[in-house]
Amino acid sequence: RRNERNIKNMLRSRLAADIFRLLEQAGALGREMGVSVYAVGGFVRDILLDRPNLDIDLVVEGDGIEFAQVLSRKLGGRIRMHKKFQTAVVILPDGQKVDVATARLEYYQYPTALPTVELSSIKMDLYRRDFSINALAVRLSPDQFGNLVDFFSAQKDIKERNIRVLHSLSFVEDPTRILRAIRFEQRFNFRMDRQTERLIKNALNLNLFQKLSGGRLFHELYLIMEEKEVLACFRRMDSFNLLQVLHPLLKLSDQLESILSEVERVLNWYRLLYLEPNVLSWKVFMLGLASSLDDAQFQILMRRLNFSDKDERYFLAVREGLAETIQQLHQWQGRAGSLSELFFILDPLPLESILYLMARSQKEEMRRHISLFLTQLKTQKVSVTGKDLKAMRLSPGPVYSEVLRTLHAAMIDGKAVDRNSQLILAGELVARIKAREAADQVQEVSP
Ligand code: CTP
Repeated sequence: RRNERNIKNMLRSRLAADIFRLLEQAGALGREMGVSVYAVGGFVRDILLDRPNLDIDLVVEGDGIEFAQVLSRKLGGRIRMHKKFQTAVVILPDGQKVDVATARLEYYQYPTALPTVELSSIKMDLYRRDFSINALAVRLSPDQFGNLVDFFSAQKDIKERNIRVLHSLSFVEDPTRILRAIRFEQRFNFRMDRQTERLIKNALNLNLFQKLSGGRLFHELYLIMEEKEVLACFRRMDSFNLLQVLHPLLKLSDQLESILSEVERVLNWYRLLYLEPNVLSWKVFMLGLASSLDDAQFQILMRRLNFSDKDERYFLAVREGLAETIQQLHQWQGRAGSLSELFFILDPLPLESILYLMARSQKEEMRRHISLFLTQLKTQKVSVTGKDLKAMRLSPGPVYSEVLRTLHAAMIDGKAVDRNSQLILAGELVARIKAREAADQVQEVSP
């Protein structure tokens, strides 16, 4: 093909050396096996955008499964095959995953009147994808390594920051793409073109969204709620009346908007604090989204999204627990309670509820206390352990956790901060318990 831009140098400079090497190996293997191999999709898009992307997607013009098997053997990896879809995942020894798909013409019998015979299989494979920016491929064969295959002006769309579908039935074929379009808009700060926006409106007028299964709908919503610009996505969804599709009462009122914006702020704060946060953002956003719904309405929303019974119970329990915690915190503040009391109020709650509670707190002081809990109280550990108590000959039983809890409280309240003072306090507590036990025994034996 003429006019193919070569991005080999870009690949070399923007990819980790081992990934670059892997692409070369895949291309060389393709030549040995007599098949063309391409890197495709989001992986290529993100190279051009210079954004990290850990998913490698390959497409093979030929038998993708066989190619994946040989590739896996050569690189000492494992393989998971989906014969029905002619796809496979190769898992390399270092954990890196490589998705391999088969590009074959006969799979894509499109309703759009296209002269399929004129299309190569890679072109057909790319044509069935969602947006032009995701429909780029890079040739990996050694003689053409790095040649960018751009049938649908994707480079222009990337330059002009456009989200654009490849054909007018894209959303009819897959309505989840509506949410993907919104997600990519906000993530890359791109914009749908007018045609794409019009096609979304048409698809919504045809109620195509209502036909989506709860599982797929939730998955897309989940992906949105794990993005960085969640509120912006919700705003955009609301502009298409898409929140109402989730639940008829969901609307981005000023109040809901300010709640979600606080949720976003707290989550960003928490993420900044911990490099690898183990927080599930989607759960906090889900609580925020449901804030204007009562339990019965929330349950309808969760059923629409095909939540498991377990998840449903979890969310309802969290909401109930939150109401209780808010009350406890107010009382605690009223009586100027100790830090250890604060600790024992918040400690049983899942992290997601605590962050949501923080987002919903109106008073600055309350936020400060919750922040103190998360950043300091939660991480302090008592250095005296059950083993130490055993060495003090405390007889086994529930008294162990009582003593450790008392030590924990003392530590938080600054009364026994180091191991030494904790050991002294533990000794006193154990002595007292032993004395109590001895007294009980005397009572038992005396008539
Ligand atoms: N794709 C599609 N329609 C969908 C989902 C995916 O056409 N509903 C295609 C796109 O070409 C996409 C590829 O499948 O690039 C892989 O999808 P995904 O795994 O979601 O990857 P990314 O596009 O990389 O998205 P993300 O960056 O969020 O992982």
